[in-house]
Amino acid sequence: MKNDLKEILLDEAVIRSRIQELGKEIDDFFQEKEILLITLLDGAIVFTADLIRNLSIPLRLDCLRVSSYGDSTDPETAPRILSSLKSDVRDREILLVDDILDTGNTMQKVHDEVMARQPASVHSCVFLDKPDRRENDFKADWVGFSIPDEFVVGYGLDYAGRYRQLPYVGTLKPVIYEDS
Ligand code: IMP
Ligand code: MG
Repeated sequence: MKNDLKEILLDEAVIRSRIQELGKEIDDFFQEKEILLITLLDGAIVFTADLIRNLSIPLRLDCLRVSSYGDSTDPETAPRILSSLKSDVRDREILLVDDILDTGNTMQKVHDEVMARQPASVHSCVFLDKPDRRENDFKADWVGFSIPDEFVVGYGLDYAGRYRQLPYVGTLKPVIYEDS
């Protein structure tokens, strides 16, 4: 699987130390207020698992399954929310967590849906940000790393459902896309 990678952009040590910083920033911001952390499946699962273990504030966890990519590296359809929340959002401090902010359409859509349910506040944290690809003015409150406009895999991010378990983030060799 490692042989399919062209380059490693973020290694395990770099990711670990950045997530410790993010955890501290988020702790400092919420100051012991309980949050409802809503993670976007499937991509954010690995990031969320590490992030919550670096948070000391009280939190509850909920998940939303959102889909936009098929087996390609470009969004094929508008993002769709494929599941519903188990928690009541009203009057809660919400933190949306996703793997990557790309066009911004997924986060914008989820943000709007959550806002409509009258939370106390909505903030967002993404592991990666590709600002060059943005199609709206969505900005995350916390960003792990800003990266150039290249398709990446690992640490939860997939290509055609694969590579999510890699503990680092890298780019794929072009031959991998050509073969499928
Ligand atoms: P957006 O709606 O365009 O911002 O897309 C966000 C979603 O697209 C993310 O949650 C990812 O699942 C997926 N995505 C965007 N860029 C990449 C990438 O480089 N690798 C893997 N998945 C990506
Ligand atoms: Mg995703």
